[in-house]
Amino acid sequence: MPAPGALKVADLEPVGPGTPTGRYLRLFWHPVIRAQDIPVGRAKPIEILGEKFTIYRGQSGKVYISAFRCAHRGTQLSLGWVEGESIRCRYHGWRFEGNGQCVEQPNEDRPFCDKVKIAAHPTREYAGLIFAYLGEGEPPLFRTYPDLDRAGVLVADPVEVLPCTFWNRFDNDHGHRAWVHRATAVRKNRPDILVIRHESVEECPYGFIGYRSVKGKGDNADSSMGIVEGSKVAADRHIEMARCIHWFMPNVRLWFQRSRAKGFEDRELWETKCVWIVPINDTTHAAFDVTLTPLEGEEARAYKRSRMQQEEEDETRWDLAEKILAGEMTLEDLPDDMSAYTSFTIEDYVTQVGQGPVSTRGPELLSVSEARVILLRRLWLREINALVDGKPLTDWKLPKDPFIAAAKEQWKVDALPA
Ligand code: FES
Ligand SMILES: [Fe+2]
Repeated sequence: MPAPGALKVADLEPVGPGTPTGRYLRLFWHPVIRAQDIPVGRAKPIEILGEKFTIYRGQSGKVYISAFRCAHRGTQLSLGWVEGESIRCRYHGWRFEGNGQCVEQPNEDRPFCDKVKIAAHPTREYAGLIFAYLGEGEPPLFRTYPDLDRAGVLVADPVEVLPCTFWNRFDNDHGHRAWVHRATAVRKNRPDILVIRHESVEECPYGFIGYRSVKGKGDNADSSMGIVEGSKVAADRHIEMARCIHWFMPNVRLWFQRSRAKGFEDRELWETKCVWIVPINDTTHAAFDVTLTPLEGEEARAYKRSRMQQEEEDETRWDLAEKILAGEMTLEDLPDDMSAYTSFTIEDYVTQVGQGPVSTRGPELLSVSEARVILLRRLWLREINALVDGKPLTDWKLPKDPFIAAAKEQWKVDALPA
């Protein structure tokens, strides 16, 4: 047991049961799979927070999460059959209900099965994802995000799985854009991506807000936009809302961006992006990425087609990323017609995986431009040290209304410099 308040960032990387981070993250709901990746009647193995589980979708459409192995002789339960709302083990046919209760053992006499129960966890389906609560006792209130509940096309991307600690993704500060995504910016003629921006951050009732402005411009200009109730939003800063990111503790990012979908890149089409960053284990993390695009009718269908095409590209993206890491090709060699979504994920993959599977950073030179990294670490250390010390944790309050209205106002002034 560490001394009170003594944890350091490197101590926060392990995520298994009983670790400080593992205990903290098990207090929240997390996405575990894309909804469309678990069809009715299918069971699959999953790993999350360093633990393996079985996930299956019953005939009613409800998704269940139960123990990874059968209670009998330990075979992987996902190999079995989904029957109604239950799962039957392939080895000797034991059948378990969604709440984990064993209800049938064909080779045994009752009432042995009444005494057998495996682990089971609550699930929810939302925003194209399946969420689970993996902690003890009653789950907390399920969070919804008003900006994702608006009308439009909701697309949940194929889940990104990166072989490195989730802290590599957490530390992906805004300063990387002009460099990591340079090849895409050049290929897609998006000079706005190359503009170097200043970011200031502020803790707020749900985590923090990062405000970005063009570096050297407008940092001290007037703005009276108090956009978040309870937040001391800086009235003395020029805020570009479209360059504003919201971080919902502990691991969710939301922001607005111009669409990168092929065929829609040249339009002033602003999307809401929301990403949940979830550790799979100590050296692998997943990013669950959802986009809400305000389109209807034929345009919405065309947009969906474009994103489905992108999904086909995504199947080979990590092979390309590994070739780039191995020096067999460069990011500049990616094909011109690849969607910017796909090339962005490859660019982020190679830099984050390129940092190594776990933090070996040692002493770092964090500077003013990394205010977000510094604040996020401070919030996490504060909460997890409190948890370990048995002190009260912050009760994070999510907004009830979408940010979009305030964001739209700012897009008018958010002229993209050439
Ligand atoms: S191992 Fe599952 S029924 Fe025997
Ligand atoms: Fe990026």
